[in-house]
Amino acid sequence: MDEKKCTGCSDCQNAKDPRYQELAQVIDEFRDMEGALIMVLHRAQEIFGYLPEDVQKIVAVELDLPLAEVYGVTTFYSYFSLKPRGKYRIAVCLGTACYVRGAAELVSAIEKQLNIKVNDTTSDGRFTLEVSRCIGACGLAPVMTVNDDVYGRLSPDKVPEILAKYQ
Ligand code: FES
Repeated sequence: MDEKKCTGCSDCQNAKDPRYQELAQVIDEFRDMEGALIMVLHRAQEIFGYLPEDVQKIVAVELDLPLAEVYGVTTFYSYFSLKPRGKYRIAVCLGTACYVRGAAELVSAIEKQLNIKVNDTTSDGRFTLEVSRCIGACGLAPVMTVNDDVYGRLSPDKVPEILAKYQ
C-alpha cells in the first residue's frame, strides 16, 4: 500500500469521521485530473464548511503537492474560507448597482448589529458576514442573501427585522 495515501485507516484520529472518509473519496475521484487541487478544495469546503488546516495538509500530501502551493490557493481565492462559518451566511452584494444604492451602509448596519466585521462569525456560531460580487439581481439593489434567501431594495433600518427571522 502507498504509505502516503490516506485510506481512513483505523490508526487515524479521523478514521471514524465520515467527512474525512468522504474527503478521501473525493481525492481519489480527482487525483489524476488536471486542476485537481481546486476541485478537491472546492469539494472539501462543501464537506467541512471551510478548509481546516489539517484538511489542507491532507490534500497536499494526497495530491503530492507542496503545502505552500495549497496555502497559496486557499489564501488567494476569497471563495475559500479558512475559518468556520456560521449556520447562516449573510452576503451583502458590493457590485456596482448595489454599491451606489447604499450597500456599504448596509454592511455597516449589519456589522454594528452583530458586533462583527466582514468575514467574521458571531461568537454563537449563528451568523457569518461576507460580501459578494454582483449576484445578478441588480434590479433589486441593494441586495443581500442569507444562505439561499435573497433580500432586495434594502436599507439599514430593515436589517434587524430580517436578522430576527434567523435568531
Ligand atoms: S450589483 Fe448587486 S446584484 Fe448586481
